[in-house]
Amino acid sequence: MQQSLKTLLADYSQQVDAQLEQSLPQAEGPAEKLFAAMRYSVFNGGKRLRPALCLAAADAIGNSNANTVKVAAALEMIHAYSLIHDDLPAMDNDDLRRGKPTCHIQFDEATAILAGDALQSLAFQQLTELNDIAADHLLNLVAMLAKYSGCNGMAVGQAIDLAATGQTLDIDQLTNMHRHKTGALIEAAVLMGALTTGCASQAQLDALRDFAQAIGLAFQVQDDILDVESSTEQLGKQQGADAANNKSTYTSLLGLEQARNQAASLYQQSIDSLAPLAERAEPLRQLASFIVNRAY
Ligand code: IPE
Ligand code: IPE
Ligand code: MG
Ligand code: MG
Ligand code: MG
Repeated sequence: MQQSLKTLLADYSQQVDAQLEQSLPQAEGPAEKLFAAMRYSVFNGGKRLRPALCLAAADAIGNSNANTVKVAAALEMIHAYSLIHDDLPAMDNDDLRRGKPTCHIQFDEATAILAGDALQSLAFQQLTELNDIAADHLLNLVAMLAKYSGCNGMAVGQAIDLAATGQTLDIDQLTNMHRHKTGALIEAAVLMGALTTGCASQAQLDALRDFAQAIGLAFQVQDDILDVESSTEQLGKQQGADAANNKSTYTSLLGLEQARNQAASLYQQSIDSLAPLAERAEPLRQLASFIVNRAY
């Protein structure tokens, strides 16, 4: 990994981790197990890409600020919740995540379900704790997080994923699934980050939306590729799990080579979309490159 990208990711992670540390309840009291499970799933080595995209989008427009960091933490809570539930026996039935036992293996299924539930609520609570922000602006952020994580986003994508298991989707259906299950939260990260600056123009938001839609889809295409070509050790999650579960993926539909071409062309599209944002979007360009070149 390039040194500048390493420094960028470390800086963004440090900011969001400090916020998460402050926002998550301590593992104590009668619900100690629930709180321990939430902490376990948030602090077990995620790449923090959604927070990084959120902060980088703010930096591309104005300056990221304390509200950007809170929004970034809220996005990571939603992401952590989605992974806890995604790994449950009723969904992908995975026992390894980030090189460690999944939440329901480390704790138990009921605790994992609750940990996901509570992380989701805490994300919205986090948004109510933004400061110096106009009420209509805050409502817009809440609405976006709800929309992109729920009935217009991630949850819908996960539902399509489950319904499509064992079926062959055509490319449009597959793209629609990926856009929802992974692309939506990435789009939310970029747009919400930009909105926390309070000075994003419509033209800037349009450019960022185009960027996020392309790189969000590329993210899941690369995730599908890694499931085929990486190793369990490197991924920190079971390699080959998609094929074992009869999942519809870019690689199962198009093959490895075409999936790679698709990721490369989406990357180029994402970079082209950032042209109007010039120099300030450099961190976003670096993150985009990481998303399609990552090995884990
Ligand atoms: C994995 O996301 C799940 C998908 C949406 C494809 P990440 O690869 O961002 O997971 P972590 O947080 O870094 O483990
Ligand atoms: C999960 O997609 C997307 C989510 C919304 C959590 P995957 O099922 O492909 O994610 P991994 O491969 O288990 O991380
Ligand atoms: Mg899944
Ligand atoms: Mg999964
Ligand atoms: Mg996957």
